[in-house]
Amino acid sequence: MRNLPAALERGRPVTIDFEGQSIATFEGEPVAVALFATGTRVLGRSPKYHRPRGLFCLDGHCGSCLLRVDGRPNVRSCMVPAREGLRCERQNAFPDAELDLLQAADWLFPKGMDHHRLMTGSRLGNELFVKLVRQMGGSGTLPDRPPSETPVVRNESVDVCVVGAGPAGLAAATAVAEARPGMRVVLIDEQDHTGGSLLAEPGGVELASARAAAAVRAGVRLWSCATAIAFYPEDGQDSVVADGPPGLLAVVTAQGLVRLAARRFLYATGSYDQNLPFPDNDRPGIISARACGRLVFRWGIRPAPRVIVVGDGTADTAFLARLYAGLDERGIAVQTVTLDQAQSGVGARGAVIAVATRPAPASELLRQHGAELRLDVAKGGFAPPVGPTFESTVAGVFAVGDVTGFRGTEIAYSDGRLAGVALAATL
Ligand code: FES
Repeated sequence: MRNLPAALERGRPVTIDFEGQSIATFEGEPVAVALFATGTRVLGRSPKYHRPRGLFCLDGHCGSCLLRVDGRPNVRSCMVPAREGLRCERQNAFPDAELDLLQAADWLFPKGMDHHRLMTGSRLGNELFVKLVRQMGGSGTLPDRPPSETPVVRNESVDVCVVGAGPAGLAAATAVAEARPGMRVVLIDEQDHTGGSLLAEPGGVELASARAAAAVRAGVRLWSCATAIAFYPEDGQDSVVADGPPGLLAVVTAQGLVRLAARRFLYATGSYDQNLPFPDNDRPGIISARACGRLVFRWGIRPAPRVIVVGDGTADTAFLARLYAGLDERGIAVQTVTLDQAQSGVGARGAVIAVATRPAPASELLRQHGAELRLDVAKGGFAPPVGPTFESTVAGVFAVGDVTGFRGTEIAYSDGRLAGVALAATL
């Protein structure tokens, strides 16, 4: 399937161990992509009904690609770069994930199972049942060994912290650095490459690389493979940061945990791919439209000769037009199907199904700051209300791009610049 050009030069050939089988891949290619490219669709089983699971978002957010990696359970395999000798195994299955006997639970309880009430008529029966459920359920087993060292922790203070290096974050960080030369601006992103949604578009990696280079030239410090895991408003009261919101952002990096204080926070955290309700929509081989774009345009993987796009009319039409054109250019046929049609069943033999719908704002960190979020169906979920200054209801905390409601990459970029200028004016 790796018969398309990848956006970046592939790493050196390496071999990973997948349940005792040697899988040839390239250094740096995510494990989930490497397995997909060799035809492995089932990456695990769901904890309760043991339904098969495969990659969905290819962005580290759906949790559908969990594997045991080098003896550690529940690792998102789409976020693990392949390297020589890496060991990975599927979880939650007996005797194996392809032919899991425990999937009988799905067959025995077609209308769902309330495990809290099953077998409660008999004390002994209930005890036995609970033991059985504990063996069958859950996700993964304990790691091979406990961590040998305590992670390194360090404190850092900056003027501006931008989270998310998609189109909005890149534009905002660059605009702040250009408007306030010499200020300490850090741009944090959990992926190994900047770009966010751009990485799902033809030419997006190149565009993101150019914008990241411009950001660095302007003085932005870029932290890739760094995940902002939580904001703690009660911590850091002794922080030396003047006029900033109290609290610390916890950032996991390869070098350890950073407790980051900043005078201003700007969240350009983007949005999460969503699925649509149609029968068997959770099966492996059903992926988000952006995951399809990442496979094809970033990693050079042909997912199938035909892609069936299931949509409800709420996805970004400009993105879909670019996706279809890019697939067509690479000889991949596209068939579009409405949600109504999908609910009557899709004949997907030999095809991959890509789901195209409005994504949900990734607004958790804003909530942890105490910023007001409003549920808005048109925005895909809980989004912060922001005006022309892009400031949230918490002073010094800003939001821009898809996290404020789906915007698409072009508007996110132009809004990002405006947000950066507005934030810089407050410093
Ligand atoms: S988290 Fe890996 S595919 Fe979604």
